[in-house]
Amino acid sequence: MIKIVLYIHILSATAWVGGSLLLFALGILLRDKCAQKSVYTHLGPIYGYFETFWLILLWITGLTMFFHFGIDKAMSHAPGSELASLMHLKLITVGIITLLTAIHMYIAFKTHTVERTPLQNLVSRGSSMLIFLLNLVIVWYAIGIRDQL
Ligand code: HEM
Repeated sequence: MIKIVLYIHILSATAWVGGSLLLFALGILLRDKCAQKSVYTHLGPIYGYFETFWLILLWITGLTMFFHFGIDKAMSHAPGSELASLMHLKLITVGIITLLTAIHMYIAFKTHTVERTPLQNLVSRGSSMLIFLLNLVIVWYAIGIRDQL
C-alpha cells in the first residue's frame, strides 16, 4: 500500500516540478510578447488548477509517508539526526512554496483580464522564479531523505 502512496507522490512531483519547468522555459524562449500574452492568458488558469491539484496530492501522500515511516517520532526523539534535519528543511521549503503559490495564484486570478500594476508584476514574477528554484532544492532534499529510510 505504501508503495502506491510513494508512486503517487513521485508522479505528483514529476507533474508539479515538470509543469514549473515548462512554464519557466516558455517565459524565456517565447520572445514574441503577443504570443506570450496569448499563451499565458489561455494556459494560465488551466496551469493554476493543474499545479494546485498535484501540490495537494504531494501534501497528502507526503504526510501519509511521514507518519508511516515514523519520521514524526524521529524528528521529536532525534532532532539532530540527518533524517530529521533534512525533513525539517524539506517541510519549511514546501511550506514556503505553498505560500508563494497561494500569493501567485491570488494575483493571477485577480488580474487575469486586467493590466497588472508594477508591484503585482514584481510579486508575481518573483514568486514564480522562487517557486521554480525551490523546487530544484526540494528534489535534492527528497533524495537525501530516501537515503536515510
Ligand atoms: C513540492 C513538494 C514536494 C516534492 C517536489 C517532493 C518530492 C519528492 C520526491 C521526488 C521523492 C522521492 C525521492 C526518492 O525516492 O529518491 C519524495 C519522497 C518523500 N517525500 Fe516528498 N515532495 C514534496 C512534498 C512532500 C511533503 C509535503 C512531505 C511530508 C509532509 C513529503 C514527504 C516525503 C517522504 C517521507 C518521502 C520519502 C519516501 C521514500 O522515498 O520512500 N514530501 N518527495
